[in-house]
Amino acid sequence: MRHLLDTESLGRDNAIAILDTAQEMSAVGEREVKKLPALRGRTVVNLFFEDSTRTRISFEAAAKRLSADVINFSAKGSSVSKGESLKDTAQTLEAMSADAVVIRHWASGAPARLATSGWIDAAVINAGDGTHAHPTQALLDAFTMRTHWARLTGTPSVGGDLAGMRVLIVGDVLHSRVARSNVWLLRTLGARVTLVAPPTLLPVGVEHWPCEVSYDLDATLEAGVDAVMMLRVQAERMKASFFPSAREYARRWGFDDARLARLDALALKDTIVMHPGPMNRGLEISSGAADSPRSTVLDQVRNGVSVRMAALYLLLSGDMKAVPTPALPAFAQPAAKDHP
Ligand code: CP
Repeated sequence: MRHLLDTESLGRDNAIAILDTAQEMSAVGEREVKKLPALRGRTVVNLFFEDSTRTRISFEAAAKRLSADVINFSAKGSSVSKGESLKDTAQTLEAMSADAVVIRHWASGAPARLATSGWIDAAVINAGDGTHAHPTQALLDAFTMRTHWARLTGTPSVGGDLAGMRVLIVGDVLHSRVARSNVWLLRTLGARVTLVAPPTLLPVGVEHWPCEVSYDLDATLEAGVDAVMMLRVQAERMKASFFPSAREYARRWGFDDARLARLDALALKDTIVMHPGPMNRGLEISSGAADSPRSTVLDQVRNGVSVRMAALYLLLSGDMKAVPTPALPAFAQPAAKDHP
């Protein structure tokens, strides 16, 4: 496999290889000198057409820890505003000797287009495309859960999966590439996933996803759960009203202080609360929950560097197994003025 475009096509062997390699990489982060010479002389381009804090910075940190040269490109302030196309932008950057292109784009399918068009030779890593996929986020989430699950079950992390783990993914599933990538990866790793959302924030065709669906957060908590992943309400992607009010959303779908206390009352002492960030505190998650000992929000950020080191290393060293090319969404590039 030359590119990392989604988790649906990743396969179990590659997923476990990335998680195991990330485990080794995390040891580098503990050292005084946080560097390996593995990618010395290679160049990683971060090509970001959408805003990002965690993903952009952690890919930069990951590449630098592997001794790669890093070129950071942000569409804001670039010639994209003059109408330059994705093809010309990518080829311009590859002319500067890119070995890997990490791309975040507002259009679903843009990374796949880059990977399959023949425009560039570099390995392509999807850092989030539209509402389609965010594979490295799902991998860092799985890494965080695997560490927790190994501790709970007394099994070794390395080589392990998430078989038997019960995971809730809660909130704005409709607009969430994080939810999509997590559902497929968690299924591959053997976890049992339930999506919990208002009917208006579930995508058409969700019944064909490898998971269960519920509209009732409290009932799913009562049934027992090992990890609750709260999703950001993506107001910037909403062109209509999807719920009556923020207050109503927080009451029915938010992980608030009352639900945090409910985990204690249900004797779910090992249940973790996750969020990919950035968080809307007081909407999908309360500050009490986000800052509680159950919260893994900052662990997820820390683990993101190790997982992205692993992905870069395995792709650039050619150690990923071949898997069939999946059916990918079409990509159409609107005029630059239409960019959100
Ligand atoms: N989780 C995530 O993708 O965060 P950023 O948008 O800050 O990269």
